[in-house]
Amino acid sequence: MRIGVPTEIKGNEFRVGLVPGSVRELVARGHEVIMQSGAGAGIFADDAAYEKAGARIAPDAEAVFAAADMIVKVKEPQPVECRRLKPNQILFTYLHLAADPEQARALMASGATAIAYETVTDASGGLPLLAPMSEVAGRLAIEAAASALRRHNGGRGVLMGGVPGVRPAKVVVLGGGVVGTHAARMAAGLGAEVSILDRSLTRLRQLDELFEGRVRTLASTLETIEMEVFGADVVVGAVLVAGASAPKLVSRAMLKQMKRGAVLVDVSIDQGGCFATSKPTTHANPTFEVDGIIHYCVANMPGCVPVTSAQALNNATLPFVLKLADKGLAALERDPHLAAGLNVRAGRITHPAAAASLGFDGSPVVVAAE
Ligand SMILES: NC(=O)c1ccc[n+]([C@@H]2O[C@H](COP(=O)([O-])OP(=O)(O)OC[C@H]3O[C@@H](n4cnc5c(N)ncnc54)[C@H](O)[C@@H]3O)[C@@H](O)[C@H]2O)c1
Repeated sequence: MRIGVPTEIKGNEFRVGLVPGSVRELVARGHEVIMQSGAGAGIFADDAAYEKAGARIAPDAEAVFAAADMIVKVKEPQPVECRRLKPNQILFTYLHLAADPEQARALMASGATAIAYETVTDASGGLPLLAPMSEVAGRLAIEAAASALRRHNGGRGVLMGGVPGVRPAKVVVLGGGVVGTHAARMAAGLGAEVSILDRSLTRLRQLDELFEGRVRTLASTLETIEMEVFGADVVVGAVLVAGASAPKLVSRAMLKQMKRGAVLVDVSIDQGGCFATSKPTTHANPTFEVDGIIHYCVANMPGCVPVTSAQALNNATLPFVLKLADKGLAALERDPHLAAGLNVRAGRITHPAAAASLGFDGSPVVVAAE
């Protein structure tokens, strides 16, 4: 199969669909990879590195889209990219269609088959192509908190790990899923005093075993949240209720009872945030203050470490890219987890949850050609 990788064109996106190591795997199996010149610049992988891995370099995005049977990307296609897609072409990337009717219509109009990273499943009911970005965001949350805690950044002036004779920072993690576990691991590794709150007792049991007592686990209730948050130097918001906005676990009134200069890191901001006072921020201007409490609410946290994020994403996507390259769309019939990623086919939204959110019922929608 001919696999094309264009340069990401969404603002501030430095990742790339395939890293050179993934290209090498595809080429070794007899596939052809066409990279847009400069596509790997954001991760410091130049055209020569891709050529060494066996790719052919195309001068521009048009040439990549014209030549490829399958396009592998990172971010959802922008309008100009949707217009370049053709029927019989496969698009494999993050789509997040449910809240994006404009993109949904453009993909339907293209006639292409679009498979979304975020709805591919695994045998344990997880989302294997979302997990790597949650791992990155969880670990970054503690780096961000450590920086925001510094006095000149408005924070409380507390060192995460303390020093002999001085208490470490108290870090409270709301939600013990992928983000929460990795945040707790980083905070504990720095020597902070860490507690994790979750609604799932099963998850708390797993965390208790995982951390062997190094991290305190607590059932998430109004009372435990208040108790922990009021004494915290750092609170990481990492809750997720599948298919719903994040629950608001910390109200504005609660901020008044927190320690001045404490830091709230709202990783759940991409689902609306779990602190009432959160609003999305960017890497260029990541924090703001409300009632003396520093808020960090960057919606695309992994974007600031593209070298790590692109490799982590490729580690998870490559097995599926290889299946699609080897078998084409027949791969969907053999792998129900990959089939769960199918969102758009032959002018229809085929993913039930995406179709329901968009108000489409899955029947063909006639879209005027642009
Ligand atoms: N900002 C970013 O750049 C970024 C990057 C990656 C992920 N995220 C977001 O981070 C959030 C967490 O992702 P994840 O992969 O860890 O999800 P996950 O499903 O692995 O974990 C979520 C956890 O929240 C728990 N939970 C739900 N309601 C709760 C409550 N009221 N109190 C305590 N715990 C509760 C669940 O039991 C679960 O264990 C998601 O909203 C995700 O979209 C953001």
